[in-house]
Amino acid sequence: MDDLVTNKNLDFNKGDKFQQLEEANSEALKGGGVHRIETQHKKGKLTARERLNLLLDKGSFNEIGKFVTHRSSEFGLDKEKYLGDGVVTGYGTINGRLTYVYSQDFTVFGGSLSEAHAEKIVKILDLALKNGAPIVGINDSGGARIQEGVESLGGYADLFYKNTLASGVVPQISVIMGPCAGGAVYSPAITDFVFMVEGTSYMFVTGPKVVRTVTHEDVTAETLGGAAAHSMKSGVTHFSAPNEVECLQKVKSLLSYLPQNCEDVLPVADFVPEGSNGKKLDDLIPDNPEKAYNIREVVDEVLDADSFLEIHKNFAQNIVVGFGRLRGRNIGIVANQPAVLAGVLDIHASQKGARFVRFCDCFNIPLLVFEDVPGFLPGTHQEWNGIITNGAKLLYAFCEATVPRITVITRKAYGGAYDVMNSKHIGADMNFAWPTAEIAVMGAKGAAEIIFKKEILKAKDHEKELALREKAYNKKFANPYIAASRGFIDEVIMPHQTREKLIAAFEMLQNKVATLPRKKHGNIPL
Ligand code: HXC
Repeated sequence: MDDLVTNKNLDFNKGDKFQQLEEANSEALKGGGVHRIETQHKKGKLTARERLNLLLDKGSFNEIGKFVTHRSSEFGLDKEKYLGDGVVTGYGTINGRLTYVYSQDFTVFGGSLSEAHAEKIVKILDLALKNGAPIVGINDSGGARIQEGVESLGGYADLFYKNTLASGVVPQISVIMGPCAGGAVYSPAITDFVFMVEGTSYMFVTGPKVVRTVTHEDVTAETLGGAAAHSMKSGVTHFSAPNEVECLQKVKSLLSYLPQNCEDVLPVADFVPEGSNGKKLDDLIPDNPEKAYNIREVVDEVLDADSFLEIHKNFAQNIVVGFGRLRGRNIGIVANQPAVLAGVLDIHASQKGARFVRFCDCFNIPLLVFEDVPGFLPGTHQEWNGIITNGAKLLYAFCEATVPRITVITRKAYGGAYDVMNSKHIGADMNFAWPTAEIAVMGAKGAAEIIFKKEILKAKDHEKELALREKAYNKKFANPYIAASRGFIDEVIMPHQTREKLIAAFEMLQNKVATLPRKKHGNIPL
């Protein structure tokens, strides 16, 4: 390696110089060496370069900073240098579209981050920002380069800062394919989407050993911060995949829904002819309002065939979010899920929905809401953990979104949740309702118990009186027509008309211009 910098042992003829470059190039490709590459493979993991080969279009990768090395001489590091210093950086194309990439090389000092390693990533982020294209970072690292100390910590901070500046300008995707621990987790956490591979990746702020010392909990790395934990319990990861190949495939799929930057137009997919006439939707809503149905059936029936890419699939399943296409045009979908907890809004559902709405608004992706919501989840757990602040996140996110916004109320739109779920009052452009919609302050039974309390108590047969009053309340409010008479609903439509109505409405809204009052930035209740 030193030969490369000092040119010692070389005559200055052209042949030697060309050979010098060739040798350096092939040395860089070896990373930490054959033995460590074998160890990586034995763990079921690919190398940094193999991953980039899978991610990028064939032959499109251009490497930047291949000969960068660390500058530390502590603990004998001056005698151990590897070209590239544990991260492969550059740019290429994914489905023909420019994408910046970095991929940490675990075979070099465990992919740990040195000052030079961080500088390489920051350089790529700077290019992505200046040239307006997404960045995909593949993380496989033991964290801060322990021998370096504060230079490494500074490198992380430089990276967090750049991630934050790039937020909302270009899409940022983090793919976790090995360890990602300590402060290192905060770069992925700032980015827009996190992917994890089951069984071989984990993320935590403090590992099992420290956890045992501090809280006396005995927990494995997988239980503490594996793909299952973060896709189901914490929501830190948006996608988990059974292996690296499928994981990278999903990254490509996600990018196909996104613009290159916040000022770019959305990509349009080749139109997929729709197979269904939507008639299935006319029979979907059960007569009994207490009965559930699966909102995914509505989503799948309305969107272009097989176009729905669900995000956060295993987290807060009482709300469904993801990208889809309507006649080839990309939209973001937020839908209450009556099949899980009756579609109630709780803390996690509100956080999940809010983050997604804000992403779509950053990148000009129109929003479609399917609404069937009984309200916010009651109880001490929710109140003490901040359903007020967290519910407000979803409300705020919808209120400030300036993209085209449409809601379809399929059944319940009760209470505050009616307002929150993209109502006309908070800036939605179009609200449709199915004839099965019920737009009311609350469910009929609860309402009757409160407003007819005296009558029910006086009656000989309390249950019968309650049932009568419930029926009367239902008759008055369990429909979309009062809201339609006030103009809060633009049109009551048959379920089977939904797809065509949405295609027409989004087309009508495609040149929408909306601005927010001048400000530095708003103060979303975080
Ligand atoms: C330098 C490191 C390293 C690190 C691993 N290596 N982590 N070198 N700095 N942080 C080296 C090892 O010495 C080894 O070198 C090679 O990488 C592979 O490591 P192994 O331990 O053999 O691999 P494995 O058994 O798979 O274990 C992986 C690991 C473990 C779980 C990541 O290496 C580990 O616990 N590393 C330390 C993690 C850590 O505490 N990092 C600092 C966190 S604090 P050889 O030469 O044998 O191949 C932090 C703060 C960030 O990150 C703050 C930002 C704000």
